[in-house]
Amino acid sequence: MTKKQSVTTTFPEGFLWGGATAANQIEGAFAEGGKGLSIQDVMPRGIQTPPTEGPTEDNLKLEAIDFYHRYEQDIALFAEMGFKVFRFSIAWSRIFPHGDEETPNEEGLAFYDRVLDELERHGIEPLVTISHYETPLHLARTYNGWTSRELIGFYENYCRALFERYGDRVKYWLTFNEINSVLHEPFLSGGIPTPKEDLSQQDLYQAIHHELVASARATRLAREIAPGAQVGCMIIALPVYPLTPDPTDVVAAMHTAHDSYAFGDIHCRGEYPGYLLRHFRENGIELEITDQDREDLAHTVDFVSFSYYMSICETGDPTKKVKGAGNIMGGIPNPTLQASEWGWQIDPQGLRVVMNDYWERWQKPLFIVENGLGAVDELVEVDGVKTVVDDYRIAYLNDHLVQAREAIADGVDLLGYTTWGCIDLVSASTAQMSKRYGFIYVDRNDDRTGTLERYRKKSFEWYRQVIATNGAALHQGQQ
Ligand code: BG6
Repeated sequence: MTKKQSVTTTFPEGFLWGGATAANQIEGAFAEGGKGLSIQDVMPRGIQTPPTEGPTEDNLKLEAIDFYHRYEQDIALFAEMGFKVFRFSIAWSRIFPHGDEETPNEEGLAFYDRVLDELERHGIEPLVTISHYETPLHLARTYNGWTSRELIGFYENYCRALFERYGDRVKYWLTFNEINSVLHEPFLSGGIPTPKEDLSQQDLYQAIHHELVASARATRLAREIAPGAQVGCMIIALPVYPLTPDPTDVVAAMHTAHDSYAFGDIHCRGEYPGYLLRHFRENGIELEITDQDREDLAHTVDFVSFSYYMSICETGDPTKKVKGAGNIMGGIPNPTLQASEWGWQIDPQGLRVVMNDYWERWQKPLFIVENGLGAVDELVEVDGVKTVVDDYRIAYLNDHLVQAREAIADGVDLLGYTTWGCIDLVSASTAQMSKRYGFIYVDRNDDRTGTLERYRKKSFEWYRQVIATNGAALHQGQQ
């Protein structure tokens, strides 16, 4: 797709401002409405420890922030901030409790009807992630998750149920959250219980292939059933800088960047890139790729969405290879950057870099569907009202939005921006409540105490103003 290059110093008209969440991190009600178990119901410590046999009461996600029962109140708060779009995921195991049934669970479908009704009432566009780190547990344990080709059919069946039911009311769909994370977290991302160290490269790439084919089939299906729909892929955007100007570091950075580019390349070009085929050849990986798979992969996405939290460095010098903290992947820390309380390095300019990079590489509209700061917040009283004075969050979001605006001025086509965890939710990697991202504070603690009451933070009013002025209220940050 080619698009006339724009020269603009502001956000385009109709820009989709909003916030993002995932079912398993907000809904709770893990066993209500006919829902089956998902992998998240056995991950009480996120990715820090191996899964448990069954749900344990220390798992905060079982109740999460109770969005399942409080969605009306929460959506009203999003509307008060002026959201144009709300990103949420559908819990696969609410619709197909085991994942391999033939007919969907009506109670599960009806819940999302109600959520969509509420969004519609407030004029908020839904942005739906079909699979966000919540594979039905049965598919994980019975089929070893996406290592099995059978999951393509189950996923297609699930997509058909969603497109038939919601296809006329949901325009934007994302097939798999952060699909490139499966390389690093096979259980969280691919529902694959085999421990990573026992999983062969052959099995891992075959699983990835199955997901890529499933994603392309979903795109094809959406075009048949819901012609107005726009389908996007979703990847972790992680700019990789060479640690030094040494060309060996530059080449090493290129290789690491390829690990993520591959997912966008396949989604946007419909075939495997040469560098990945070389990796297969040199590592004895022989994938089963059928003619039908090749045909399916040709159904490329309409747009590219991504999460952006940080950048990393890479080196070709094995003695300097250390792994810092970070969003699923981590990487070598950048000596010039500061980090969040959880060690994620903060790099607003990296967002501009990655946006230019993706736009030039794929020439597809982009959508920033996650960006935000996980921080410890303190609930205080200001003029008799309970709130959080989260100037640090405002600064983080402001600086990233300024860079997104720079990228738009560079000519990048950006559809919208949804901050991660617009309401406090349970963390994906650590399963903590204390790692808060929201504009809305939820009274819920790591030890499961709290009333679940909602409170507006200082950033709530700040974001309201940013949206109301279509970005004009931003303070100029770094260039
Ligand atoms: C992304 C995920 O990796 O980062 C979200 O798509 C997640 O589900 C977010 O919550 C922030 O990560 P964390 O580990 O701080 O919750």
